[in-house]
Amino acid sequence: MISDQEFTRIASFLKGKYGIDMTDKKIIMNGRLENFVWSHGYASFTEFMNALEADPTGGLEKTLVNLLTTNHTFFMRESEHFDFMKSEVIPWIKEREAVTRDMRIWCGAASSGEEPYGLAMLLMDVLGLEANKWDTTVLATDISEDALRKAMAGEYEEEQVGVLPDYWRRRYFRQVAGTTKYRVTDELKSKVLYRKFNLMNPFPFRKPMHVIFMRNVMIYFDEPTKKELINKIYDMLLPGGYLFVGRTETLDRDNTDFEMVQPSIFRRPLDS
Ligand SMILES: C[S@@+](CC[C@H](N)C(=O)[O-])C[C@H]1O[C@@H](n2cnc3c(N)ncnc32)[C@H](O)[C@@H]1O
Repeated sequence: MISDQEFTRIASFLKGKYGIDMTDKKIIMNGRLENFVWSHGYASFTEFMNALEADPTGGLEKTLVNLLTTNHTFFMRESEHFDFMKSEVIPWIKEREAVTRDMRIWCGAASSGEEPYGLAMLLMDVLGLEANKWDTTVLATDISEDALRKAMAGEYEEEQVGVLPDYWRRRYFRQVAGTTKYRVTDELKSKVLYRKFNLMNPFPFRKPMHVIFMRNVMIYFDEPTKKELINKIYDMLLPGGYLFVGRTETLDRDNTDFEMVQPSIFRRPLDS
């Protein structure tokens, strides 16, 4: 079992560098790390952290992040967000960008790809025959390399893709021969750009976004970290741009200039 001192050391490291607050999750942390630590020959969590801090390749740090992040996600999660994208947001972007034909949508905690692939399918669906005249590439980032690897492989079990409309499944997935898995087509893969990115870092994007999906990740951050992130998101959105957060997440309305459109959907004011 991890000692209090070891737990504090790892929790501070994780919070300082990635914003993830596990300060009251000792048992969970122990459960996620214990197996790895013992099976890789470390005599203690201290020995593991010493090795991590001395590791010039950063490999052990990646492992720690992979083990400690929660990557749970699924296709069409919080489907009312996809409905709102279809009825309000995409028409707004179409009108605004009629000349540039550039839609800039960013998923900041993309995990294993279900969310950005869902958005990419929705965009193609709504744009229909016009889709190939637009640049709709969804930017999808996450800190977990394991999650990003899964996203880029784009392989999902039958029951995972079962929630998608039939038409989408037929058009954007192919069964992997001899398995119960389905893989996204190259066409759909080409509509999503995956990159590793830590939300604690300054945003490196050149152009402001129309839409930012930041769903079910701020629940892992403490209030000051969340506040700072929301300010960065606000600055990264165009006036009129939309922020989607998870249904169980809230923004502190007294501390933000975002307008609430619906619970969990926020908009940077058009005149800002
Ligand atoms: C529970 S998943 C949410 C996936 C998806 N957005 C959804 O709502 O279904 C949370 C994701 O946030 C990522 N994450 C946690 N801290 C992060 C950070 N500092 N920077 C980038 N991604 C982070 C995790 O790796 C994980 O994949």
